[in-house]
Amino acid sequence: MTIILLFICAYLLGSIPSGVWIGQLFFHKDIRKFGSGNMGTTNTFRVLGPIAGTIVLFMDILKGTLATLLPSFFGFTAINPLWFGVCAILGHTFPIFAKFKGGKAVATSAGMILAYNPLFFAYSTVIFLICLFCTSMVSLTSMIAAVLITFSTILLPLLHTPILPTFNWLLTVIACGVTVFIFYRHKANIARIKAGTESRIPFGLRKQK
Ligand code: G3P
Repeated sequence: MTIILLFICAYLLGSIPSGVWIGQLFFHKDIRKFGSGNMGTTNTFRVLGPIAGTIVLFMDILKGTLATLLPSFFGFTAINPLWFGVCAILGHTFPIFAKFKGGKAVATSAGMILAYNPLFFAYSTVIFLICLFCTSMVSLTSMIAAVLITFSTILLPLLHTPILPTFNWLLTVIACGVTVFIFYRHKANIARIKAGTESRIPFGLRKQK
């Protein structure tokens, strides 16, 4: 019973539609009606500006982190905590509080990594920022970074790095699943990238002019 309750709590945490609520509460704007129509960090930056964007980024990361740490708060160790992170990711993408139309799984997945291993989170953030600098596109960066981070879950333990010293097959399996899911959630972005119409950010080598 406890485990089902914890899974539900993790899903509900992930379901909090930060971007939608911040937009409605402080800007009287539904961000899903503007920009890319997504309720995630990138569209919040685009529609509501950097302060709201940063708050939503932190909130979406926090959802993944808290959900992954949730079982440890109750001394529950029977199940790998990464599964609770997965529930939060599902909540973020299919939120009960926003008619099951949610984000693209990126920030909440990052939050799960933060709870799992802060050093690996820092490494993943550097990978993300390098990709963002090279592409100036958050969507493309999210997909490339997801692939690189998944490979890193195998490579870093093989190289005996202190960032990720031991191989955890579950982390790799979940990272593979989340990567496929991130690609799926970026279908519309992939079509825009192919058409050359995907929006760029004012940062990096190919920034918006
Ligand atoms: O995390 C979402 C990002 O990769 C793309 O967002 O609003 O450009 O579709 P958006």
